[in-house]
Order: sequence, then structure tokens, then C-alpha cells
Amino acid sequence: MPARKRQPSNPHFPLLERALADVYGWAPNVGLRAALQAVVTDKARRLLFDEVTYCRVAAQSPGELHSVAEEIALGETSFFREPEQFRALWHLVLPELIEKRSGVKRLRLWSAGCSTGEEPFSLAMLLEDLLGDAPDWRLEILAVDLRSKALLHASQGRYHPLQLRNLDPTLRDRFFHGVYAPDAPPGELDRRLRRNIRLRHANLYDPHLWQHLPGPFDVIVCSNVLTHMHHTAIQQTTTRLQQALAPGGYLLVGSTEAGLVAQPRLRPSPTLPGGFFHRNE
Ligand SMILES: C[S@@+](CC[C@H](N)C(=O)[O-])C[C@H]1O[C@@H](n2cnc3c(N)ncnc32)[C@H](O)[C@@H]1O
Repeated sequence: MPARKRQPSNPHFPLLERALADVYGWAPNVGLRAALQAVVTDKARRLLFDEVTYCRVAAQSPGELHSVAEEIALGETSFFREPEQFRALWHLVLPELIEKRSGVKRLRLWSAGCSTGEEPFSLAMLLEDLLGDAPDWRLEILAVDLRSKALLHASQGRYHPLQLRNLDPTLRDRFFHGVYAPDAPPGELDRRLRRNIRLRHANLYDPHLWQHLPGPFDVIVCSNVLTHMHHTAIQQTTTRLQQALAPGGYLLVGSTEAGLVAQPRLRPSPTLPGGFFHRNE
């Protein structure tokens, strides 16, 4: 059978990009267009549609649009992704919050855009290290992502040694079973770390999510998510993040995303690495 010719410029891509921008807050760009091209070609072929028809159908059907989003969202992540930020959480931010919340003995953290779980599990390791011998504390880590496959991976808690490359060796040896060499099979995360984590499938650009959040949060990590959003979505999401933070709480974004956060009650923290914002008391 002759190879199917790829259509050089599909006039319906802008329709699909607009739907993704409206529903998920994603900015159309060259990277998104390339990922979209590959997914549309594949899905159209499997459904026996031409690509133009597939784009029109996907733009109008929430279920199909979600399956496109699931395929094209970038999920790159790792434990302690920005090591300097995580060291600051470990040695400065969390100890300060633990001291401040010692009356209520409760901390709520949120990994917003958690991908396959490395980020919320990094937070869980820090809490376990700092408060593991204090069973009277109530610790909650909410982990949200729109990709169900990523959440399934997180729920299994198995990670390849390469995914642990930034992790402090003392934490790695304490919380992983069976990780000895880069070519070893995936290691299993200690079950203790999973008990405070609640994985939730949701879209951060959906206002309903924000109406039913179990906050306010002491720390929100929303890293490498804003960078993929368009201006309106960034504004709206950072406003909502600010509202979801407890007074005195911290927002952490990727160090290259710090310039995207412009909220009146969030101040960059001069004594912490780039990406930290402190909410007024
Ligand atoms: C590049 S990964 C970053 C993961 C992690 N925060 C980190 O920095 O390592 C971005 C994650 O955000 C998720 N994401 C993007 N837009 C989202 C949205 N509107 N709602 C929920 N999750 C979203 C993607 O599915 C992906 O797993």
C-alpha cells in the first residue's frame, strides 16, 4: 500500500489549537504544532478519518480533545528536578513552616501538574525526613495532573534509576528498594511515602477544580506548567494559586518561570533560589 501523504498545512490545526488554548490554557507554538501534527496523523489513520475531519471532530468533542491533550502534554520531570530549590525546601522553607504550624500540627502541600509523581514524592520524602517521627502531625500532599496515564504511573510508585539522578543519595537509599545501578530494573518507592499523597485527575484551567480544593496550602509547587500557557491562562492560574495559598505560604515555580508570576500578594523571596514566592501573612 502506498504511504499516506501528510498534508503540508492543515487549515484546521488553528481550530484544534484554539480548543486546546480555551480548555487547557495552552499557548499555540511551534513545539505544540509539531506534537499535534504527529498525533493527528496517527489518530486520523486509526479512526479512518482524513486529518481535516479529525481536527474538526476533536475540536468539538471534549473526550477526543482530552485524548489529544493526554498524548501531547510534555511530561518531563525528575526527583528533585531543580536540586537547589528542593534543598531550600528541605533546609529553610519546610522547617520555617513546621515551626509556624507547630500549634495546629498540620501541613498541606500541592503539586499542581505532578506528571508521573516524582515531584510530589520528592515533597513526601522531605516531610518524612523532617516529621517522620512526629505521628501527631497531619500531612497532606495533593498531586494533580490532567494525564491519567501519568497518574497511573505515579500510583504504582516504581521508578527507573535514571529518574533518581538528582536525588540526594541518603534519601534515595532510605526511600527506594532495589536501586543499585543505572541499568537496574525500576526500584520501588517505600509505601510509607504514599500514605499522605492524594492523586487527582483534573485540569488546572478548569474553574471547578479551584472551587473544591482541599486548601489552603502551605506550599504549592507548580513548576514547568505556566511556561506552556498563554497570557490569559498564566494570569488566571497565578491569581488562583495566590488565592489557594495560606497566608505565609510559599509558591514554587520553575526558576525560568519566575518572571511569569506577577501577583500583588506574592513576593519573590530574596533569600531563596529563583522561583520561590512568599504570600503575605
Ligand atoms: C513538564 S511537566 C512538569 C512536571 C513537574 N511539575 C516538574 O516540574 O517536574 C508538566 C505537567 O503538567 C501537566 N499539565 C499541563 N497542563 C495542565 C493542565 N491544564 N491541567 C493539569 N495538568 C496540566 C502535564 O500533563 C505534565 O504532566
